[in-house]
Amino acid sequence: MTNLKGKDILHGNQFLEKDIEAIIKMASNIEKALKKKDSFTLLKGKILATLFFEPSTRTRLSFEAAMQRMGGGVISLGSVEGSSVAKGETLTDTVRTISQYADVIVIRHPRTGSAKEAADAVSIPVINAGDGTGQHPTQALLDIYTIYKELGSFKELVVSMVGDLKNGRTVHALVELLSLYQSRFYFVSPKSLRMPEEITSHLRKKGIKVEETEDMLKAANASNLIYMTRIQKERFTDLTEYERVKGSYIIDETFLKKLRKKMTILHPLPRVDEITPEVDRYPGAAYFRQVKNGLFLRMALLSMVFGKTL
Ligand code: CP
Repeated sequence: MTNLKGKDILHGNQFLEKDIEAIIKMASNIEKALKKKDSFTLLKGKILATLFFEPSTRTRLSFEAAMQRMGGGVISLGSVEGSSVAKGETLTDTVRTISQYADVIVIRHPRTGSAKEAADAVSIPVINAGDGTGQHPTQALLDIYTIYKELGSFKELVVSMVGDLKNGRTVHALVELLSLYQSRFYFVSPKSLRMPEEITSHLRKKGIKVEETEDMLKAANASNLIYMTRIQKERFTDLTEYERVKGSYIIDETFLKKLRKKMTILHPLPRVDEITPEVDRYPGAAYFRQVKNGLFLRMALLSMVFGKTL
């Protein structure tokens, strides 16, 4: 098995095909084993610290649940206001301190590059749970695991990524993983929220076909998979621009009726208005199954970072 023992998890580009396949195998073993028992003792005595400087429901709670289900313990910075960050303590001093108490750190921070900065400051593994508009590699891995389960393969797909591609760290990480498997992409967004040019040119240099468009239906009908994302109000400095582009793309029953075939629809969540609740009944709507897969995947990653297998 690929050795993730003691490694940081910071960026989608750090994984090779063999790493992804090993992680998926481990997640699958854990998912199967969880049908027979609720928890394990593999990480007994180990402590995970969660440091979330931006809001989170899924990533923080699934990491905390994952650690507890593997038999380990969890400490959390809690709110920034309730910690010494509110007194002006730097990120590096904060993580250096926490590394004295914990065996692994999971961090979310608004600044791109902050997870790497934290990792460089400590000797224990650091896992990037989202660094501003940069990367969200564990989301990308759980997305790949979900694609594998829903479609039977994650190879040579045609994927429509829709929404806020400029600020979306989930899509920035996922294209890195899918590009290992010769996926083709439609990037669907308003002009002001296009995928950053350095990402599209990086993909094209790797020989990956990328088409940018504002037409979601045309892209979806040429794809196997729609990866929907939220237009992220919190990333806009000009709220009039947010008001102009919000609601640009909505998957609802009317849209579903125009699809030429059954589609798989993923979304990292949270959603606002871009997928209406009645779509949840559509068989290809996999975003809550995707949430569940996040638990298995993060149990696998934590185990592998400690060099344990199941
Ligand atoms: N997908 C995701 O990162 O969700 P949270 O912001 O709730 O953690």
